[in-house]
Amino acid sequence: MARITAGVATSHVPAIGAAIDQGKTRDPYWAPLFDGYEFSKRWIAAAKPDVVFLVYNDHASAFSLDIVPTFAIGCADRFEPADEGWGPRPVPDVNGAPELASHIAQSVIESDFDLTIINNMKVDHGLTVPLSLMFGQPNAWPCKVIPFAVNVVLYPPPSGNRCYQLGKAIRRAVTSFDHDLNVQIWGTGGMSHQLQGPRAGLINKAFDQQYLDRLISNPADLATMPHLQYVREAGSEGIELVMWLIMRGALDERVVVRHRFYHVPASNTAVGHLILENPT
Ligand code: DHB
Ligand code: FE
Repeated sequence: MARITAGVATSHVPAIGAAIDQGKTRDPYWAPLFDGYEFSKRWIAAAKPDVVFLVYNDHASAFSLDIVPTFAIGCADRFEPADEGWGPRPVPDVNGAPELASHIAQSVIESDFDLTIINNMKVDHGLTVPLSLMFGQPNAWPCKVIPFAVNVVLYPPPSGNRCYQLGKAIRRAVTSFDHDLNVQIWGTGGMSHQLQGPRAGLINKAFDQQYLDRLISNPADLATMPHLQYVREAGSEGIELVMWLIMRGALDERVVVRHRFYHVPASNTAVGHLILENPT
């Protein structure tokens, strides 16, 4: 039986990817950020997931505004890094897990969550920067990855509760897959940031810290937070945080906090990072 053993939350700023790719991780601006992921790299080297179910958002790289799926599951066996304007990042292609992804699609759709099935797409910084933060710069990513894209770019995004319940359905799907696999689920994006308009540069440390507390201890209550509150308090791109509720919904009600890190700023963003383990 496949099991979800742990959840990871992390921000996904493109400048973090550029710092890694250009060898700047020890620069004074970046070192405190990357220090916060040293534990995580050791932890994941020991945890050795077979598959990461990676919840992220596409930033108009794979999906233009012509078609914007609310939830899209990557069922391909390979995903190349997208060109976001400076050429594709020099990172390995992502190997998918088509059998497990198709099983999850079937199970989750039969539980009344309508997913879009993607058999061909490129993946942008939303997916590759979290991989780089957790795994560093290997020649090949050490596990398979199922990309799961959530619309947080074009209004309306899915509600927090929809995301939280979807996480529970994903867990049921994974645990009904008849192969012995160690599966992690990652929720990416956030924390507070706003990239445009009069409030560009907005950071809200108090909101972010409370979000981390509530995500750990009372996610069902956090899931009732309306969109407007995310946007008002965490900025227009702070809505990316709803994706963390998918990750949290797939874990036990009580979790073990292995690591918690918060750093401001990385580019225009407050970076938050959690490693949560299922006790069972
Ligand atoms: C930044 C953050 C993001 O989440 C993103 O998608 C793009 C840019 C930033 O802080 O620069
Ligand atoms: Fe983003």
